Amino acid sequence: MGEKIRLDRYLAEMGKGSRSQIRQAAKKGRIQVNGQTEKQADRKVDPESDQVCMDGRPVSYQKLEYFMLYKPQNVVSATEDSRYRTVVDLLEGENRRDLFPVGRLDRDTEGLLLLTNDGELAHQLLSPRRHVDKTYFARITGQLPADARQQMAAGMTLPDQTILQPARLRILAEDEVLLTIQEGKFHQVKRMFEALGCRVDYLKRLSMGSLVLDETLKPGEYRRLTDEELNMLKECGRKENH
Ligand code: URA
Repeated sequence: MGEKIRLDRYLAEMGKGSRSQIRQAAKKGRIQVNGQTEKQADRKVDPESDQVCMDGRPVSYQKLEYFMLYKPQNVVSATEDSRYRTVVDLLEGENRRDLFPVGRLDRDTEGLLLLTNDGELAHQLLSPRRHVDKTYFARITGQLPADARQQMAAGMTLPDQTILQPARLRILAEDEVLLTIQEGKFHQVKRMFEALGCRVDYLKRLSMGSLVLDETLKPGEYRRLTDEELNMLKECGRKENH
């Protein structure tokens, strides 16, 4: 026997609607537990042994998990790779079968990466409509033009005509910058600096939405998100910022 949870939570966590929608569905007789119609959405079920169906289809339960990883260099943001270690390989001892990285960092980029099996949250955080901020620290070579900040703030057009959303640049030193972007196009940060005549020599992601890389983690280390981090991140995923 596993830990019992409420039926409405079970179905909400599996993406079957909000708790109130699930309560309505139960009242209408759309939910069965072990073959019996269940109208009380607040009853408890055992995710390991009870059979839950909604609209005649079984809904199996997988616990949602959330890890913050300090991705090191030379590891790829994928679940499988024939040549390199993957970020999922780093989660030793966890039940990793269904975990995947939310977005990608290049092999030579390090820093914050969220790993989860929550497809709905991942989709929200990656949706360009949600405008979730991603902040990077970069060490660059070359001379930035005097109006680099303004060019990035206006929304750059890359040489291949890719149009980018506005980005915020903060210059920390001659060769060190912080850049905040709201999308995640292929090699985006590197290509933005290249378009301005510079080269990125080192790139590290510091944050994604409200989630900030825990600086007590060393490259390759990870930990679970706290409840507070998770709640704030879900809030970022829900909002459509402009
Ligand atoms: N932009 C890049 O160029 N590389 C990354 O890994 C992330 C953002």
